[in-house]
Amino acid sequence: MNETRIPVGILGATGMVGQQFAKFLQNHPWFEIAWVGASDRSAGKPYREATSWRLDGAMPARVQHLEVQECKPGNAPRLVFSSMDASVATEIEREFAMAGHVIVSNSRNHRMEPDVPLLIPEVNPDHLKIIPHQQRLRGWKGQIATNPNCSTIVLAMALAPLKPFGITRVVATTMQAISGAGYPGVASMDINANVIPFIGGEEEKMQQETQKILGDFTGEGLRPLNARVSAHCNRVPVVDGHTVTVSVEFERKPSKDDIIRALVNYRSVPQERQLPSAPPQPVIYMEENDRPQPRRDVERERGMAVFVGRLRECPVLDYKFVAMGHNTIRGAAGAAVLNAELMYSEGLLD
Ligand SMILES: NC(=O)c1ccc[n+]([C@@H]2O[C@H](COP(=O)([O-])OP(=O)(O)OC[C@H]3O[C@@H](n4cnc5c(N)ncnc54)[C@H](OP(=O)(O)O)[C@@H]3O)[C@@H](O)[C@H]2O)c1
Repeated sequence: MNETRIPVGILGATGMVGQQFAKFLQNHPWFEIAWVGASDRSAGKPYREATSWRLDGAMPARVQHLEVQECKPGNAPRLVFSSMDASVATEIEREFAMAGHVIVSNSRNHRMEPDVPLLIPEVNPDHLKIIPHQQRLRGWKGQIATNPNCSTIVLAMALAPLKPFGITRVVATTMQAISGAGYPGVASMDINANVIPFIGGEEEKMQQETQKILGDFTGEGLRPLNARVSAHCNRVPVVDGHTVTVSVEFERKPSKDDIIRALVNYRSVPQERQLPSAPPQPVIYMEENDRPQPRRDVERERGMAVFVGRLRECPVLDYKFVAMGHNTIRGAAGAAVLNAELMYSEGLLD
């Protein structure tokens, strides 16, 4: 552990993802939470009073006594994670970046802006090269990097090892956990023993974000992957863990063994650099014919790996499989922390 850790702040610290940040950053070897911000309903209160703790285990001692601040730049540390309600994130994140902060955000607001990286450190670490363009274009010393939507990240991590086969078409259907809707999320009368076949804006996000993430940095900008992606999104009565069934077509159809080898051997920059939150194996292929399952598998690998199983031929596209990942860890707080670790290892936090 470093002698002096880097102080970090959290915008939206009291929410579902904010709490995951507080939990995930406990005993982090590089980062230490020094500042928490939320709405004016919470500002001025100690974190333990402002927050209804919804996660397993006790609220981390480190944050309990921190006074919740208004989300205004000023006395926050340079590195700030953001998990604010999307209705307010656009302006507030921009204000922080203008004031010189490094914003590592979960919110959808800036994800699709052409000069903002939509980062998965294993998949597109080179997209960070867009940051100097962002700073020049916007005339700010700060920066904004984002992580994908919680179901997109599961899909993109499962597809990334298959990119060398030339992905042309993807059909993805989600079964998304209720924690993905924040707290209190979906009313129990609606979700108990039920499936809700609509999550506002989610299908568009999965389609566009997947193309951006799997696209290439051209030296000038980010060129999206030239593949057609179709998503169906459903909310199901699962607490944590988004499951996605995927059918995919390739330019050069690989064998089933080629696909399994590509998934199992997939390693990238976070594993090479041994970033503290990087799972040793980002994609885990499960041989059992009834896995992955959210209740059994979601907590494995600290919630940072994506689990893939049931690979088989698809009579319409080439292959189909199931993928599953932790929506508030790999799909939110853990993703942002890994992004910040990559940025630190690139010298972007100096
Ligand atoms: N849940 C997931 O799986 C997931 C995954 C990926 C991304 N995200 C994104 O992450 C963000 C947070 O999601 P969540 O599920 O954690 O939501 P949440 O539980 O509703 O939390 C929202 C947070 O935003 C704060 N907030 C609300 N109004 C504010 C204002 N006017 N100024 C400053 N802060 C304000 C809240 O503070 P108070 O407590 O004071 O109201 C709270 O800390 C959203 O943009 C969401 O789309 C969520």
